[in-house]
Amino acid sequence: MEKEVHPLVREYQDWSPRSAALMDRARQVFPGGDTRASAHYGPYPLVMERGEGCRLFDADGHEFLDFMNNFTSLIHGHAHGPTVSAVTQQVPRGTAFAAPSIDQIELAELIRSRVASIEQMRFCSSGTEATLMALRCARAVTGRQKIMKMEGGYHGSYELAEVSLIPDPDGRGDIAHPNSLPVDKSIPDSVLADTVVCPYNEPELARSLIGEHAHELAAVIVEPILGSMGMVPASTEFLTALREETEKNNIVLIFDEVISLRLSSAGEQGRRGITPDLTCMGKIIGGGLPVGGFGGRKDLMQVFNPDSRETVFHASTFSGNALTMASGLATLSDFEEKDSDRINRLGEQLRRGFNGTLSQHGIRGKAIGSGSLSNIILSDDTIHDARDAMQGMIAAGHISALLHLGMLRKGIVSASRLMYCISTPMDETHIEIAITALSDTLSELRPYIEAERPGLIV
Ligand SMILES: Cc1ncc(COP(=O)(O)O)c(C=O)c1O
Repeated sequence: MEKEVHPLVREYQDWSPRSAALMDRARQVFPGGDTRASAHYGPYPLVMERGEGCRLFDADGHEFLDFMNNFTSLIHGHAHGPTVSAVTQQVPRGTAFAAPSIDQIELAELIRSRVASIEQMRFCSSGTEATLMALRCARAVTGRQKIMKMEGGYHGSYELAEVSLIPDPDGRGDIAHPNSLPVDKSIPDSVLADTVVCPYNEPELARSLIGEHAHELAAVIVEPILGSMGMVPASTEFLTALREETEKNNIVLIFDEVISLRLSSAGEQGRRGITPDLTCMGKIIGGGLPVGGFGGRKDLMQVFNPDSRETVFHASTFSGNALTMASGLATLSDFEEKDSDRINRLGEQLRRGFNGTLSQHGIRGKAIGSGSLSNIILSDDTIHDARDAMQGMIAAGHISALLHLGMLRKGIVSASRLMYCISTPMDETHIEIAITALSDTLSELRPYIEAERPGLIV
């Protein structure tokens, strides 16, 4: 028997027939039609054809405002003029040389001039590789094995980086000693055993866990804003506790600023005045092309000095390639403090507007986040860690997926987990359009929420 399709999902399918047909083809070549888990949602994602500034255009000819920006990486939106010209000038001159280049040096100098903790750095091809290499650096320097990561923290697509990404209520254990949970069946037990999971935003629990494991911890890695689990900002008290305890115990403190670097030209560490030992970067520093970077204290980064006796080996075919370097340099050179301040204010305006709209409609929910990064969570409880965010997702059930599809039909692209971020081509008008779209979508959803998730109504 065919599975019954929700009426609002049916409307989405009727509205996007060409995406539907293309995704039928995609399913022949990709498992489930998908080549990137985070970009997938049901019944099928829209196939995009073109991006321009803060707009996207799909295969059915719809036009959207893009509040996703390739998961926060497109700080200037799509086809940013100076970046396009830097890349198009570079292409005929060659894309990758396996040799040092001037742009490489200039981009690293620019980043170092802005992010105070970075004395030396390296480029790589993804945020995944950046966090992986920062952890290897910490292990090599300290001679210790274990890594502390946060519950709900995401650091890329490899085993340790995804431990306890989803704090499943059935397995996560006590908040004071969270279990190391595998994100799927591919995670080896040895990796779980090498990971100490710390609850987010609990300074006292973090102090005591670090104390307990101090002798075996090489590094503590933390996102200053918990990106994948609802854009939950860390409190300064929490980050300070991590800084103090790691310093006391000679553990390497790593800030994963792959997402949060966009919050100011000095990164989130600059806004908080906290100095990590190492910082991982990605997303915006490549100007839209694949990239990663990691750097920090010179004495730690010396493990990558090829002339040193005990080198950590980091090769990577596309590290510092000419195209990405040209793109990143053009993008970051055009992104200054005044720009991050402006889009951060737009982010605040978006959250205020979304919150007002949710309360006008009598829906339990809130927009949280920091600066240009926001997330709607359908819960009116305080969201201060990954467990709270998870609770909100469970309470919302399928309604948050319907809200996402509804917003798409109103011309607003976000991540399917309802993450919204701002790019520099946006202004107040775009924020108002998104707020109106949320209001219209909630009106449309209302009868379904009443019938299917009445607990979400105040
Ligand atoms: C905080 C954080 N760290 C690391 C990564 C991994 O970056 P990449 O997808 O470039 O490998 C991501 C990706 O979204 C991220 O959000």
